[in-house]
Amino acid sequence: MNPQVSVGGGLSVKQAYKRFLSSRYGMQAYDQFKRLLYTEEDSLVEGLNNNVLQHLPVICRDFLEVCDIGGGDGRRIIRILRFLYEKFALRFRLDFVEQSPCLMRAFDVDQIADCVDVREFEMLFEDAELRGGYDLVFVIHSMFAFQDTAAVDKILSLPNSHGIVIAVSNAPNSFVAGLKKLFDADYEDRRFEITDLVKTLEDRNQAFQTIPFVTRWAIGSRRQQNPSRIFSRARLSSYPRQTASAGSQGTSLMGTGSKTLRSSDIANRCAIRD
Ligand SMILES: C[S@@+](CC[C@H](N)C(=O)[O-])C[C@H]1O[C@@H](n2cnc3c(N)ncnc32)[C@H](O)[C@@H]1O
Repeated sequence: MNPQVSVGGGLSVKQAYKRFLSSRYGMQAYDQFKRLLYTEEDSLVEGLNNNVLQHLPVICRDFLEVCDIGGGDGRRIIRILRFLYEKFALRFRLDFVEQSPCLMRAFDVDQIADCVDVREFEMLFEDAELRGGYDLVFVIHSMFAFQDTAAVDKILSLPNSHGIVIAVSNAPNSFVAGLKKLFDADYEDRRFEITDLVKTLEDRNQAFQTIPFVTRWAIGSRRQQNPSRIFSRARLSSYPRQTASAGSQGTSLMGTGSKTLRSSDIANRCAIRD
């Protein structure tokens, strides 16, 4: 058994998830998955830009220090910063943290070179020596593999006195939460979820605001909305099988996806540190 995916003798979903996203295959599967769930236009970023970002008081500055934690292929932060540049003529310095070499390579900084100065940190967020003092810290669907609450404490140390943290994740009862439940059934540990973040913030007496929003979905008909079809279309069904080759007893989850979740179940939750 590969020790990287083992936790207490069993399999760690956090480690498997990080390894999956560090492979070319995983990167492509995740990209397909995002296009299916959020459309080509990326309805998650549209929701974030329209419902949250453009209303933030920090936007009235003309230069922002930004950190993106687990930025993936960078497409989302590119869309976000381009939106803020085009609408408010803001300029930025961005520290971009991503543990997957494949995804870091896919980050096309040229697309924002006219308004953003980028520093790349190809490593785990937990190991990154970040300068801090940020106006905006983004954690977009990237908290799931955090080892423990120490990562949250590190995040809270990063903004400056008027800075905010924007953490976006699927809501606990959402469609994506349902998919993850199917995926994660055979693992010993569980992902760090928005509920864990909220509990940690409450334990720290940290003020925060929760803004629920619903994202537009690329899949139309009810028939298409069966999670097992989505597994197969996104080719994510091989995620548990890949882990199986690393020693898991994991069964294919294709057969377990009989629950039908409605598109209105797709929701995102955004916790903002005030
Ligand atoms: C679901 S993807 C989201 C990527 C991007 N934020 C987006 O919304 O498209 C999660 C990303 O976080 C990265 N990630 C997860 N845990 C991490 C950690 N502890 N340190 C650095 N990157 C991490 C993964 O490699 C992956 O690229």
